[in-house]
Amino acid sequence: MSRIALARYLTEALQQGRLADAELARLIETVADICVSISHDVAQGALSGVLGEAGTGNVQGEQQKKLDVIANDRLLEGCEWTGLLAGMGSEEMDEPYPIKAEYPQGKYLLMFDPLDGSSNIDVNISVGTIFSILKKQGDAPLREADFLQPGTSQVAAGYVLYGPQTMLVLSFGHGVVGFTLDAGSGRFVLTHPEIKVPTATKEFAINMSNQRHWETPVQRWVSEMLAGSTGPRGKDFNMRWVASMVGEVHRILMRGGVFSYPRDAREPGKAGKLRLMYEANPMSFLIEQAGGAATNGRQRILDIQPEQLHQRVAVFLGSKDEVETVTGYHG
Ligand code: AHG
Ligand code: MN
Ligand code: MN
Ligand code: MN
Repeated sequence: MSRIALARYLTEALQQGRLADAELARLIETVADICVSISHDVAQGALSGVLGEAGTGNVQGEQQKKLDVIANDRLLEGCEWTGLLAGMGSEEMDEPYPIKAEYPQGKYLLMFDPLDGSSNIDVNISVGTIFSILKKQGDAPLREADFLQPGTSQVAAGYVLYGPQTMLVLSFGHGVVGFTLDAGSGRFVLTHPEIKVPTATKEFAINMSNQRHWETPVQRWVSEMLAGSTGPRGKDFNMRWVASMVGEVHRILMRGGVFSYPRDAREPGKAGKLRLMYEANPMSFLIEQAGGAATNGRQRILDIQPEQLHQRVAVFLGSKDEVETVTGYHG
């Protein structure tokens, strides 16, 4: 079987008119290359002193890990000179990052969660990088408002999972494809040409320790699943919680399931924990492109009009039947 590397896959997608333009192909390749370098750091771990706290905080009110900062800097430095971008936004940066005047300006906006699953870094459990690409509208200098486009406007989204295998999972609006990093050649090779999420599932992912802080519809949905085959759902469910969204979404893309991080009575505005622009939107784009669904309990995530770069949102995503059930319970 001939191996199709990412560069060839993108070139052919371009030739077949499935990819917007060569600049988008270069941007995806650039992000993928940077993630290969991040995967080396993740894999070296204690050997290269990259584990542990950075000693700084981020706008989310979280303590940053060294790898949060390293991955963020790698993405900035690796992308800013390319001439492909008008700006970047990140979980780890308070403000949008304009491209410096010394570099050519491009038309795309890149948003990322440089290291998703930070709490798993020091315990050697899978983490990842999540990215979302938008097109900047107009030629005015970069403002936060340029990023505030609904998820339906994403021209591409994906993640790189640093797990037992390093994998790139990608969509530019024509389905979802997966590539596995071939350590020998350092290239991403197409291994999952058409990723689909089954409609029904018996597996859910939620942090049960927050149960008492959830809203009533979520309490009902989860208790019915826990009731098993003799309960109203009439089947036994299994539960998983990796605590890395990339890990959960990857499992769901591989074998189905539903992932949820609901609103929480403790959060300001009861908004939920996950960030709309660089977690919920790119993951919802992938899940929908694979035939699944994604809502905040009340509306489709991709339709939400963002108001802030770091906006938080409740998330229910994965196999359609469960996402529709819990969304229906919200009335
Ligand atoms: P991040 O490490 O980028 O801040 O994101 C962590 C997120 C997400 O990956 C995961 O689903 C969730 O936080 C885990 O939250 P709990 O620690 O509350 O389980
Ligand atoms: Mn994250
Ligand atoms: Mn993160
Ligand atoms: Mn974080």
